Amino acid sequence: MGKFYISSAIAYTSAKPHIGNTYEIVLADAIARFRRLIGDDVYFQTGTDEHGIKIEEKAENAGVSPQEYVDNISGEIRRIWDLMNVSYDKFVRTTDKHHEEIVQKIFKKMYDKGDIYKGEYKGLYCTPCESFWTPSELVDGKCPDCGREVKEVAEEAYFFKLSKYQDRLIKYIEDHPDFIQPESRKNEMINNFLKPGLKDLCVSRTSFNWGIPVTFDPKHVVYVWLDALTNYITNIGYDPDGSSEEFNKLWPCDLHLVGKDIVRFHSIYWPCFLWSLDLPLPKKIFGHPWLLMNNDKMSKSKGNVLYADDLVNKYGVDSIRYYLLHEIPYENDGNISEELVEQRINSDLANILGNLVQRTISMGIKYFDGSIENKGVNDEESLKFIDSINGVFDKVKSHMDTLHVADSLTDIFDLLRDSNKYIDVEAPWVLAKDDKNKEILETVLYNLLESIRVCGTLLEPYMPDKSKKILEEINSSSKEFTFNSNNKYILNKPEALFMRING
Ligand code: MSP
Repeated sequence: MGKFYISSAIAYTSAKPHIGNTYEIVLADAIARFRRLIGDDVYFQTGTDEHGIKIEEKAENAGVSPQEYVDNISGEIRRIWDLMNVSYDKFVRTTDKHHEEIVQKIFKKMYDKGDIYKGEYKGLYCTPCESFWTPSELVDGKCPDCGREVKEVAEEAYFFKLSKYQDRLIKYIEDHPDFIQPESRKNEMINNFLKPGLKDLCVSRTSFNWGIPVTFDPKHVVYVWLDALTNYITNIGYDPDGSSEEFNKLWPCDLHLVGKDIVRFHSIYWPCFLWSLDLPLPKKIFGHPWLLMNNDKMSKSKGNVLYADDLVNKYGVDSIRYYLLHEIPYENDGNISEELVEQRINSDLANILGNLVQRTISMGIKYFDGSIENKGVNDEESLKFIDSINGVFDKVKSHMDTLHVADSLTDIFDLLRDSNKYIDVEAPWVLAKDDKNKEILETVLYNLLESIRVCGTLLEPYMPDKSKKILEEINSSSKEFTFNSNNKYILNKPEALFMRING
């Protein structure tokens, strides 16, 4: 199996991340864990984006230095990622000295090449989004991304020759249909940004200090998106003077997972920066939808923000991971509220998954003292059931390969539902009444345990703790994804996997 380099966006250290930002990291984690499960050599990078005027201002308001401010929030973000059981291989920070040095070298390399030149910037700037806009891009005179006021700014600045790469980029996107996914995001990039034409991009600022200084003109700091995007290469050993072996192994990245609002930066600026450095482009940029609260954008000022730690304290980490991974479709925004989380816990986790495991193990203990082997006495219903067990992995894998993560989880839950139905159809409690059915009864329980084992194994990327617990309860360490006729089960006493929430 091949190497798989996956990155999430690096979160701004302007404020504690809400459950929406947390959705992205859990999604990235599920993908990373799945690739590991199927044997890929995974490298998963995440971290924090720590420069820019917004952070400088926040620190000033808080009466601390920018460095103290970002140390605190970056620590908070990492704590939440750890709480969510995120299996990142590296947590990077853009205030890391090595990153800063390489960004300076990158800027110089682009300048020496003639891709960066000095000019004057006059434009409309949205401070919260760190973005410049043209008058025609504004919506009702305000920032088209966040709807806030923009202000006129004029300053001496360095520019990157984005226009030089425009035609090459359009052709590249057309020739590589998988490069920007989902399809709707790709069309948005082509129609809204590329077709109208790319203007050169302002890549330095003189109006504030909290950034990486340009070595040959230190009153300028590097534009925060040039600084941030390069995190994907500076932290794996890229160096304009000679990159490391690790870099040659890992680059190009297999998947940049980012929110739909920042696909633009990843699919337009980033490829042009990489071409300027003569580097290949990442294989895929996936713009995931957003998580809304009560169908509205989360915002502190509106008072509709949920935080991962509050939810985890109340419902447990895997219930929240399940909710996030199951509830947000491939392309459209998803919704969250405590009420919805509780409904899901009851209907899916307690009723379907928890019940199946509990019922099966209890019957195994009651009828066979917890020791079960395959007697192979299968009726038609059982053979059909074994077929569904054997089919689940391919379904999950093909959905995961195309990043339909919610659908892959549904594939597993479909088999869990089928397993509950299989119990109802076979009615082990009826079989148990007559000793001559003993072998059929043991076969039925064996088949159920195989289903629980396969589902338990496949659930690891989504609910790592519960997956482990399920496999412990049935005493299995087998990582096979299909029905095996030759296992022997010695069952442990079941404990409730999920508590029903009574509203
Ligand atoms: N710092 C930039 C990313 C730089 S990557 C080189 C940034 N940071 S952010 O903190 O604002 O957002 C981090 C990620 O969270 C982004 O991918 C963003 O799209 C995502 N989300 C922010 N709000 C979200 C929801 N409500 N729902 C889902 N994802 C959300 O952008």
